[in-house]
Amino acid sequence: MAAGKTLLVIGSGPGIGRSVATLFASKRYSNVVLVARRDESLAAERAAVEQAVGSHVTVKTYAVDVTDSAALLKALDDADAAVGKPECVFFNAARVLPSAFFEHDVKEIEYDLKITVSALYVIAQRYVPHLVALAKADPSAKPALIVTSSALPQHPIPQLFALSLVKAAQRNLVQSLNLAYGPEGVHIGVINVAGPVSPDELERNPANIAAKTWEWAEAGKEFEVVI
Ligand SMILES: NC(=O)c1ccc[n+]([C@@H]2O[C@H](COP(=O)([O-])OP(=O)(O)OC[C@H]3O[C@@H](n4cnc5c(N)ncnc54)[C@H](OP(=O)(O)O)[C@@H]3O)[C@@H](O)[C@H]2O)c1
Repeated sequence: MAAGKTLLVIGSGPGIGRSVATLFASKRYSNVVLVARRDESLAAERAAVEQAVGSHVTVKTYAVDVTDSAALLKALDDADAAVGKPECVFFNAARVLPSAFFEHDVKEIEYDLKITVSALYVIAQRYVPHLVALAKADPSAKPALIVTSSALPQHPIPQLFALSLVKAAQRNLVQSLNLAYGPEGVHIGVINVAGPVSPDELERNPANIAAKTWEWAEAGKEFEVVI
């Protein structure tokens, strides 16, 4: 098994996922586990992290749809065996897609719920007990479960009603987890990316989002940061 601390990124992509993975790896993590559905995009994400951080980082990639719990857990068994259980879990997977009343199929809502809520629950079920144990065993550890959120839970957009509602449910789950396990020493919270992400945005560009996320995670105190 590779030595060093591990960052697990659920929902690895070229935007927030990549910027957080590279920054966190450059600051603290020598092992990075990337999960997304497509092998070809994961190869690009692996290359981006290795290029940004250097060859001393170990990057493991797993092509899996997080809505397939059995496949997800199998991938995580393999990841844990290869690089150890994570100190930091970054849950970033979502589909940022328009949904129009009433053309949107209910199955699409159910799929989005499985990504943002069911998969997050499966991840929490697997890793929160480990993060609590880590907090108790090692005072220098920074056990964390960080979830990418947005302003949609508080301010739904009708043209994005499906994403709005699943993000509201997801935030509620993260709040419950934080109430239960924050006092046990695990930093659990959300980064609220309050608008569209683009390299051209002054605040909401991926590099700045990662920098603000690192600052907030390092402090380890607040439930949320708004970017
Ligand atoms: N983009 C925005 O404008 C914006 C604004 C506010 C908040 N957010 C939030 O930011 C997060 C995403 O950041 P981002 O938009 O910059 O994307 P990103 O980090 O570039 O990529 C996220 C990745 O998640 C993966 N993913 C999606 N569904 C998945 C599934 N079922 N199983 C496994 N992986 C899955 C996708 O890869 P595959 O397609 O290969 O699976 C996608 O590339 C989301 O939580 C979103 O709600 C985004």
